Amino acid sequence: MEISINGTRLHVTDVGAGTTLLCVHGFPLSGALWAPLVEALAADYRLIVPDLRGFGHNAPADTLSMTTFADDLAAVLDTVGEQQPVVLVGLSMGGYICFEFFRRYPERTRGLILVDTRAQGDDAAGKQKREETAQRVLAEGSSVVADDMGQKLFAERADEALRQRWHRIMRNSAPTSVAAALRAMGERPDSTATLAGIDVPTLIVVGEDDAITPPDAARYMAERIAHARLEIVEGAGHMTPVEQPQRFAALVGDFMAGLDVRER
Ligand code: MLT
Repeated sequence: MEISINGTRLHVTDVGAGTTLLCVHGFPLSGALWAPLVEALAADYRLIVPDLRGFGHNAPADTLSMTTFADDLAAVLDTVGEQQPVVLVGLSMGGYICFEFFRRYPERTRGLILVDTRAQGDDAAGKQKREETAQRVLAEGSSVVADDMGQKLFAERADEALRQRWHRIMRNSAPTSVAAALRAMGERPDSTATLAGIDVPTLIVVGEDDAITPPDAARYMAERIAHARLEIVEGAGHMTPVEQPQRFAALVGDFMAGLDVRER
């Protein structure tokens, strides 16, 4: 469905019933990232899956920030009538957005599932690289990022059809949105100081061959978030939810079941 929030329209999938998982995709992807998870868990949980502002089915956006993304998520929850705290699951940039959501809306956060992401912000060189890439994307198109990330997203064993599908999704993302998201990631706050304050159940998942946010970045978070559980997934790179969909859904399902037990 399409919903109007904060001066824009977002494409949102909303299926199932029960405790809500709010699924936040990475850069420059779309809500399609979560399709296997939705299929696996919709019988037991409610899954709300937006295409983030500027991406997927949505109109291009020329300015973005982690704050805008987090506020959009809260507005999505309001619009679909979800007032109870939700479990956020975010991959990579989606994880950066989860940190921002947690800082802004702790009372709406029941748990966090941080997937193939990191807490550290960009250093000066990283910010400069983002800006250079943003300018190239605006001049040459989104293939600049699709080609570069396409090399790094998947574990070696990932099949060609999967690689091509996601290359196409990245290439079809609007250049203005891709550039705006690059700048937003460059400007994002460092979230390392947030980790010690995370007081909700947290699951951290990383592909063992993740070349973008490697297992060490996941260990760093796991060591600093109280009672976080860390799962390193064999045979996955940066795209664990689509590279190892069954294993990923099982991990999320276990975490969700544990959440219900802990609350009883
Ligand atoms: C992502 O996968 O969302 C991005 O590659 C993360 C990043 O570039 O920091």
